[in-house]
Amino acid sequence: MNLWFIALWVTLVKAWVVNEGTTCTLYPESLSHRGQAVDDSPSIQQAFDMCGTNGTVIFSKNLFHVNTVLNTTNLLNCDVHLHGELRFSTNIPYWRTHTISVVLQDQVTAWLFGGTNVNFYGEGGFYNGQGQEWYNANRNQSNQPGRPMSITFYNSTNLFFWATFVWDSKNVTFTNLFVNATSNSKWGTMNTDGFDSWKSDSILVETATIIMGDDCIAAKGNTTNFHVKNVYCEGGTGITIGSIGQYPETPDYNLNTTFENVHVKNAMDGAYIKTWQGTRI
Ligand SMILES: *[C@@H]1O[C@H](CO)[C@@H](O)[C@H](O)[C@H]1NC(C)=O
Ligand SMILES: *[C@@H]1O[C@H](CO)[C@@H](O)[C@H](O)[C@H]1NC(C)=O
Ligand SMILES: *[C@@H]1O[C@H](CO)[C@@H](O)[C@H](O)[C@H]1NC(C)=O
Ligand SMILES: *[C@@H]1O[C@H](CO)[C@@H](O)[C@H](O)[C@H]1NC(C)=O
Ligand SMILES: *[C@@H]1O[C@H](CO)[C@@H](O)[C@H](O)[C@H]1NC(C)=O
Ligand SMILES: *[C@@H]1O[C@H](CO)[C@@H](O)[C@H](O)[C@H]1NC(C)=O
Ligand SMILES: *[C@@H]1O[C@H](CO)[C@@H](O)[C@H](O)[C@H]1NC(C)=O
Ligand SMILES: *[C@@H]1O[C@H](CO)[C@@H](O)[C@H](O)[C@H]1NC(C)=O
Repeated sequence: MNLWFIALWVTLVKAWVVNEGTTCTLYPESLSHRGQAVDDSPSIQQAFDMCGTNGTVIFSKNLFHVNTVLNTTNLLNCDVHLHGELRFSTNIPYWRTHTISVVLQDQVTAWLFGGTNVNFYGEGGFYNGQGQEWYNANRNQSNQPGRPMSITFYNSTNLFFWATFVWDSKNVTFTNLFVNATSNSKWGTMNTDGFDSWKSDSILVETATIIMGDDCIAAKGNTTNFHVKNVYCEGGTGITIGSIGQYPETPDYNLNTTFENVHVKNAMDGAYIKTWQGTRI
């Protein structure tokens, strides 16, 4: 009886967000557009608007195209299950003019994500920042202004996840993180960090494989009680505390950082502390 009642509530709210009560399941637009890379960002935004509080958002086992910026912050008691691929578009002129600032070192992001009591489960899914296009466009120069980081975890409390940049967050756990920034062309993977934390407390990174071209894991300013455990790093520079001390008017405190059981292969430095020496960017 109850099941029948729930079934009546199954509604196709908009193409490709299937909403059942507090669960939203996402399907990519490409399925109804003969495989074209139609932007799924509006559906993704809608799914989080509908199910981001006391709900569940499920990315079905399909390829999703993220062609425009996403801001899914202030989530509350939300479980996210990623079964498919999140593929960021290679529209470099778009990204360079539309991303969201993360303040630190003039960096920007394509997807600002955050909330309280949020669990983000990989479950075979992953995201693809299409780095190769950027490495080629970069031609071994340092960061092009406006090159975004794929996902940033912002203002998050009790978040459980895997990924890249953590900002203004507390009690965040990343397990089984896999990052691969490798170039197949003659151009290198300049400035590709694996995992950075900034202004964050009680962050745990446990069991990670990170192949990259810059810092493997960096504890940036005001990172406290950061614990990194069982990590394999390949390429780039290695394990880092910093950069710290970039802005003369804001001191950086890094307290109680632990790196435990870390293997570093083919890196320039292994482990080091980076500080600013009077110049600023
Ligand atoms: C979400 O759940 C919390 C705790 O169970 C409850 O206090 C709150 O009212 C709920 N919010 C909504 C919008 O349902
Ligand atoms: C992101 O969305 C929130 C509302 O959830 C809004 O308050 C905030 O200003 C937005 N941030 C940006 C950078 O657009
Ligand atoms: C940070 O998250 C809290 C909820 O935990 C919210 O009340 C606050 O507005 C958020 N701050 C910003 C700057 O988004
Ligand atoms: C930190 O987050 C975990 C997982 O969400 C939760 O079980 C734990 O109670 C949280 N700890 C604190 C101190 O809030
Ligand atoms: C990393 O990506 C490169 C380039 O796409 C690929 O050749 C390589 O096999 C990947 N490494 C792993 C461990 O998946
Ligand atoms: C670019 O830099 C990488 C090292 O990061 C180097 O291996 C490669 O040869 C350089 N490419 C060119 C074309 O100079
Ligand atoms: C240092 O951080 C660890 C987690 O990495 C935590 O368990 C411990 O209590 C912290 N120590 C102090 C003195 O805060
Ligand atoms: C880091 O913490 C110190 C001490 O609380 C504060 O003065 C400084 O502004 C913080 N830095 C940033 C970038 O928030």
